[in-house]
Amino acid sequence: MEQPHLSTSRAPSVRSSTPGRRSCVVTGAAGFIGSKLAATLVDRGWDVVGIDGFTDSYDPVEKRARASVLGHMNGVTLVEGDLVDMDLEALFEGAEVVFHLAGRAGVRASFDEEPKYVHDNVLTARAVVAAARRAGVRRAVYASSSSVYGNSPTPFAETAPPAPISPYGRTKLEAERTFLEAVSDGLEAVALRYFTVYGPGQRPDMGLRIFAEAALRGEPLTLLGDGTQRRDFTYVDDIVSATIAAADAPASGLAINVGGGSSVTLLEVLELLRSLVAGDVTVQFLPPARGDVRATEADASRAASLLGFRASVPFQVGFPAEVAWVRDRVETMQLEEVRSA
Ligand SMILES: NC(=O)c1ccc[n+]([C@@H]2O[C@H](COP(=O)([O-])OP(=O)(O)OC[C@H]3O[C@@H](n4cnc5c(N)ncnc54)[C@H](O)[C@@H]3O)[C@@H](O)[C@H]2O)c1
Repeated sequence: MEQPHLSTSRAPSVRSSTPGRRSCVVTGAAGFIGSKLAATLVDRGWDVVGIDGFTDSYDPVEKRARASVLGHMNGVTLVEGDLVDMDLEALFEGAEVVFHLAGRAGVRASFDEEPKYVHDNVLTARAVVAAARRAGVRRAVYASSSSVYGNSPTPFAETAPPAPISPYGRTKLEAERTFLEAVSDGLEAVALRYFTVYGPGQRPDMGLRIFAEAALRGEPLTLLGDGTQRRDFTYVDDIVSATIAAADAPASGLAINVGGGSSVTLLEVLELLRSLVAGDVTVQFLPPARGDVRATEADASRAASLLGFRASVPFQVGFPAEVAWVRDRVETMQLEEVRSA
């Protein structure tokens, strides 16, 4: 595939705003959510500077493929580098909004790789906030997580005291506070607490994608726990809509839940998966994973009143779209395996 132009972090300024278009920065632009956010922003009249460090959180080939698609869009400039070491002020100059989606996601790996989580979540947040203030950015929108609630009673309301039970949740909470405290220095800031995001393009370490890949390959799948754990799965297009709405929301200094509108058990996920792959799905149940919470469910009232947001894609519609995307990938890989055999 033809590679797009990637600027280096030393570029003094990469912004060439088009008259009549708004300007923003998306960090983590090669990620699952960041790449969709950047593409949608361009469609909605924004010029985007996208930054990504192509970290080792999962196969960077997948991130580079997303960046390649983005890099060919008019209105997107991609810059490669680690946010902690870059001259971010120069990159933020002239931007009205910074959407900070770069981070290290995933609960389980955070127990073994805590320093990387601190770097990618806590230190990037500090660097982004400091540069946004110096560059005169109006607003920062931070991609926080429902993990800050831990095993709090459901539904989770933003007014509940945070109680993270993993290094991931703790680093997201610390980053979130870095953003919200910057409000006293004149930066508008909103922290969106995303609830398990899914859909085509999902990260390869996430459960739904792992389940779908195994089922479509006819392999047994492994479920950690008894399957009665519940997640408020949120379709990626809904997440993107809420994130863009946060750029102009009449709110600052607040955390806002962004959930999918229904809490689904993993046993229900498997039932739907069986009907989608039209075959038997063998499941091996293992003990629950460390840091896995029993249930997540967003209280969606703050998002409704401040973002005008209501999830529009139910799980019964969104999951088939993800499975169709996984099916295409699996079939393409199987064809390539046959050709190279
Ligand atoms: N996917 C979910 O279910 C979910 C749920 C809650 C919160 N979030 C948050 O949303 C954000 C995006 O999640 P995602 O699923 O798209 O993850 P992702 O891993 O696909 O995307 C994150 C991107 O950030 C980049 N990045 C990480 N550290 C960096 C650094 N130091 N410098 C430059 N780039 C760096 C990575 O290379 C990656 O491309 C993350 O902050 C995550 O914590 C995601």
